[in-house]
Amino acid sequence: MNNSSSSSPREGMLLGMQLGNGYGSQPDSWRMPGVDPASYVDFDIMARQAQAAERGLIDFLFLPDELGLQDDIEHHPSKVSLEPTLTLAAIARATSRIGLVMTASSTFNEAYSLARQLKTLDVMSHGRVGWNAVPSSGDLAAANFGKAFPPRAEKYERLHEMVQVMQGLWGSWGEDAWVKDVESGRFADSSKIQPVNMAGRHVASQGPLPIPPSEQGQPVIFQAGGGSNGAAVAGRYANGVIGATFTIEDAKAQRATLRQAAADAGRDPDEIKFFAGLMPALGASRRDALDRRLLLGRDTIPQRVPYLGFMLGLRLAEDRLDTPLAADELAAARPNLGDPRAMHAFEVAREGWTVREILAHGVIDYHPTPVGTASDVADHMQEWFEAGAVDGFWVSVDVYEDGIDTFVDDVVPILQDRGLFHREYEGATLRSHLGAPHQYGLDPRLT
Ligand SMILES: Cc1cc2nc3c(=O)[nH]c(=O)nc-3n(C[C@H](O)[C@H](O)[C@H](O)COP(=O)(O)O)c2cc1C
Repeated sequence: MNNSSSSSPREGMLLGMQLGNGYGSQPDSWRMPGVDPASYVDFDIMARQAQAAERGLIDFLFLPDELGLQDDIEHHPSKVSLEPTLTLAAIARATSRIGLVMTASSTFNEAYSLARQLKTLDVMSHGRVGWNAVPSSGDLAAANFGKAFPPRAEKYERLHEMVQVMQGLWGSWGEDAWVKDVESGRFADSSKIQPVNMAGRHVASQGPLPIPPSEQGQPVIFQAGGGSNGAAVAGRYANGVIGATFTIEDAKAQRATLRQAAADAGRDPDEIKFFAGLMPALGASRRDALDRRLLLGRDTIPQRVPYLGFMLGLRLAEDRLDTPLAADELAAARPNLGDPRAMHAFEVAREGWTVREILAHGVIDYHPTPVGTASDVADHMQEWFEAGAVDGFWVSVDVYEDGIDTFVDDVVPILQDRGLFHREYEGATLRSHLGAPHQYGLDPRLT
C-alpha cells in the first residue's frame, strides 16, 4: 500500500465519460441508425461501451442516478435504466484500468449498506471506484421511499454525516489487519478491526465492515452540482467535481471556489480536480456534425423553439423552424442573461443558421456543445484547459454505439499530439488517475 501523500502530478487534462442508459445522452439516441433498441438492458453492449472508453485511456466512467422515472417513457428511455452499483460490477469485470464513478443518494441510503456495496465494488475492481455523493432532489425520489423530502439544510447535514460514517466504516478494517497465516491459524489481527461507533443527527453505524482495503484503499469521493452547499461538501471530501458551466470565466470562478473550499478545510487545493461537462457534436465537418444532430433531434428540436425564443427575448413559434432570424429580429433580440446559455445561442443565431440548425448546435443542452470536426472539439478543450478553467472534462457522448469510438479514435489522438492527454494509463487505480492522495478511513485533517 502506498502511503506517500500524493503521486506525481500528471501533465495535461483528465477525462471522464458519462454512461447511462445504454443509448447516449440525447432523448432519441435509442432511435439512431446502428443502435440496438434493446441496449437499455444489454450488459454486453454496456461492457463494450466501457471497453471503448478504456481503449481511449479515459480516466473514469461516470454513472448518474435518478430515484424515479422522470422521463416521457412513451417516447424516450429513462436517463438511467439499471441500478449503478450492479451495472458497474459487470463493467468492472470487463475492464481493468478505467475508473468507475457512480452516483448514489446520501438522503435515501443507509451508511452501512452503501459503504458495504461501494467497498465491495472497490475491491472487486481492484481500486477503481468513486462515489458521486448527491443529496437527491424532487418529490418523486422521496415518494419512492415513502418519505417527505427533508429541508435542504437537513439533507446536506445528512450528506456530511453519510460521507464521514461511510469513510469511518471503510477504515474500520485496518490496512494491515489481514494476517491470513494458514500455518498459525491466525486469520486477522482483531485489534485492528474494531467498531467505529459513529453517530450523528441523521446517520449512525457501529461497524466494523468485514472488508479489507482495495488497491486504492477505499473509494474516492466525487461531487456534482454547485452552490455553496455543494462546495462545502466538495471542499472537505471530494477529489473530483463535475460542474455545469458554460463559459471559461464561470468555470474559472467555480474552480477557484472549490479550490478555496479545499484550502478552508485544511486540504491542498490540488486534491480537487474540476471537470466541466462537455457534449461534443462530432462530424467530418461542421455541416456533417449538424446533420447528425438534426437527425437525432428531429422530434425534440421543434419542442424547443419556444424556449429558444425565451432565451433570446423573442416570441418564436414552431412553424418557423426552417428560416433564419431576420435582421429586425436579431436587432430586437435581448439575450436573457438569467440563462447562461443565452449569449452563445445569440451568437449562433447571428451566424445566419435556421432556427432548427441553431437548436442543432445544442444551445439548450446541459453542457457546452462544440460542433464540428475532432480538431474543433479539441480546440474547445484546449482553450478551456489552457485558460486554467478546468482540470479536465466530463464528456457526454450523444450516441454511445458509434460516438465513443469516434471520440476515442479522432479526438483523443489530437489531444495526445498536442501534449494535452496521456498516452497510457500511468497507474491502475482511480486515486492514481486523479493524482489523489492516499486516504484510508476518515481524513485526519478534518475535525
Ligand atoms: C454534471 C452534473 C451531474 C449531476 N448528476 C446527478 C445525478 O446523477 N443524480 C442526482 O441526484 N443529482 C445529480 N446532480 C446534482 C443535482 O443537480 C443537484 O445539485 C442536487 O440534486 C442537489 O440539489 P440542491 O442542492 O439544489 O437541492 C448533478 C449535477 C451536475 C452538475
